[in-house]
Amino acid sequence: MTDLFNNPLGPVLVERKSKPARTGQQLQIAPEIKSIAFDQVEILNSILTLFVSGQTFDCDATYGYGEFYKEIARPEHCFDIDPKKPEATRGDSRNLPLPSSSIKSLMFDPPFVVSNPKTGSEAIMARKYGGYKNITDLRAHYKNSLDEFARVLRPRGILVFKCQDFAHGRSNYFIHDEIMSMARESGFKAVDLFILLAKNRAKGAWDHQNCARKFHSYFWVFRKMQKTRSGSGVKS
Ligand SMILES: C[S@@+](CC[C@H](N)C(=O)[O-])C[C@H]1O[C@@H](n2cnc3c(N)ncnc32)[C@H](O)[C@@H]1O
Repeated sequence: MTDLFNNPLGPVLVERKSKPARTGQQLQIAPEIKSIAFDQVEILNSILTLFVSGQTFDCDATYGYGEFYKEIARPEHCFDIDPKKPEATRGDSRNLPLPSSSIKSLMFDPPFVVSNPKTGSEAIMARKYGGYKNITDLRAHYKNSLDEFARVLRPRGILVFKCQDFAHGRSNYFIHDEIMSMARESGFKAVDLFILLAKNRAKGAWDHQNCARKFHSYFWVFRKMQKTRSGSGVKS
């Protein structure tokens, strides 16, 4: 069996098992889509292949520097509360200028840094990508945005939520787990989870380490559930 961690970037091929090959007939070989990668473009392409019938997402609600779109097509709607690129329009992920049920897919990569006033060690990331004063603000932004995405996405629409667990003070925040619960409350169902591995990370500024330094982030894939006919609940 191939060991992904000893050969993380090696192409892994699987045989399609549905039709056994007849003598003289070539085996159909498909590239295997993996749940981990060192390259976010690979993850984005995997998500597009598996869940989005199109070249790219319809909307990016937190466009930033547009780093996702160096190799894949740019979405039709690119918003950021503080646009850094001319192609982005000023827009708030909690109140998007889009009609209800109007888009099929949406990318969300919100800030993930909560500033620590004592160390200031997160300041560089916060300056580049934005940050929160406290965990309550982070949670409120994530939940209010999820509610808004449930409004603008069509039933069965796809939401991709990039996030990162983090340590703050002396506690670990497994925020990807909280996001799954929040998304469910907002009417989404988790359909996949990809893990982006980092080879290097900027060194932390602490003198005492009390939990593992995170060398990974997540790409959640959620599907908006359909309302039942009675409107009394949701079904996938
Ligand atoms: C982690 S960065 C996104 C990076 C982006 N994926 C890229 O490729 O550069 C987070 C972005 O979210 C934006 N942001 C923060 N709060 C927002 C909000 N309420 N609505 C829209 N964008 C917001 C920030 O300005 C920042 O550009």
